[in-house]
Amino acid sequence: MARLPPVTIRLGDRSCQVIVGDGRLDELGARTREVASTRRAALVTDSNVDQLYGDAAQASLAGAGLVVERVVLEPGEARKSMAEAEAICRRMVRAGLDRSSCVVALGGGVVGDLAGFAAAIFQRGVPVVQVPTTVVAQVDSSIGGKTAVNLPEGKNLAGAFHQPALVLADTATLATLPEREWAEGFAEIIKHAAIRDPEMLEVVTDLDARTGLAGLIHRNVALKARVVEQDERETTGARAHLNFGHTIGHAIENAAGYGRMLHGEAISLGLRAALYLSERHAGLAQEQSQRVLAALRHFSLPLVLPDDLMDEAVLESLGHDKKFVDGAIRFVLVPELGRALVSDRLTRADMIDALTHLRQAPGA
Ligand SMILES: NC(=O)c1ccc[n+]([C@@H]2O[C@H](COP(=O)([O-])OP(=O)(O)OC[C@H]3O[C@@H](n4cnc5c(N)ncnc54)[C@H](O)[C@@H]3O)[C@@H](O)[C@H]2O)c1
Ligand SMILES: [Zn+2]
Repeated sequence: MARLPPVTIRLGDRSCQVIVGDGRLDELGARTREVASTRRAALVTDSNVDQLYGDAAQASLAGAGLVVERVVLEPGEARKSMAEAEAICRRMVRAGLDRSSCVVALGGGVVGDLAGFAAAIFQRGVPVVQVPTTVVAQVDSSIGGKTAVNLPEGKNLAGAFHQPALVLADTATLATLPEREWAEGFAEIIKHAAIRDPEMLEVVTDLDARTGLAGLIHRNVALKARVVEQDERETTGARAHLNFGHTIGHAIENAAGYGRMLHGEAISLGLRAALYLSERHAGLAQEQSQRVLAALRHFSLPLVLPDDLMDEAVLESLGHDKKFVDGAIRFVLVPELGRALVSDRLTRADMIDALTHLRQAPGA
């Protein structure tokens, strides 16, 4: 199969290339040498990914002449903390890494956000190479330069913009993802389709047994790259469109409590809510909503709110959402598939209306 061309994210001196394709992990060392004039790298990963791909990544880096300090973390969101970022920085100092070194983040979004944040603060910033190994990380978290750790008060509350020097997404690594983690990544792909690229809705449902995957990931990377180019720091509005489904989705995720629902599963519910509100407040045609719901259903993503999740709990977490600006909800609506807008006209009553809708089976 012909190699896919790299996607370039054009951001002036923070531009970077995203390499996407099956079996491209072995290029890691040579590519890293191209973008970072360094002899030493910290290879940060979690133990699941380490077992599967740690040796291959290290061999590629070492083969290109890099001295590698391998930092293996426990998997899980709980590791995305200030304490862990500090621990990574300290490991790097003790291993003799300095301002001329780089960080390679091998793993899902947790590793990418955490190692990216460590790279942003270590010696006031060293290059990070993102090597995403989940669907979420390949189509979303590794692209755009947002890095963060969680605080006890909430998710992603401390962080930095730190554009990667390179992103290398080997789509063959996705073959080992557990079923739920595989499916949840498609919530973000379906979100991309809804705001920018509706034809992709049929591409995802025809995606047979994980084939054609590299092309699909490439298409999503290019889509997110264009949004990030328009609005790198989420100031002009374009990047806010990526929050489609996330206002209510995040609130549901938080209200459900740590570890109960995967992010993409909560976003599936958030997308259904946002589609419903788009129908009511932005003129979205019901058939268009149905197309999106069919794609979510195809991946067995949830569409009905669990009975024990009370409106009050969801509304309470909505109050903490970063997307509340000055008390008004900045809510992303889709007037037609492929086009999004930000509305500040929705009220708490509309949120309750959407939650009521989420308690009914779709099509009812
Ligand atoms: N920076 C951003 O713009 C951005 C965007 C979206 C999400 N995020 C963040 O990303 C994080 C979620 O990322 P995630 O969904 O990738 O979760 P994750 O990093 O926790 O990975 C999910 C699980 O899959 C395992 N895993 C990873 N790759 C694997 C592979 N190839 N084969 C088998 N197992 C593998 C991991 O060890 C982990 O247990 C959250 O912290 C979220 O805040 C950041
Ligand atoms: Zn998301």
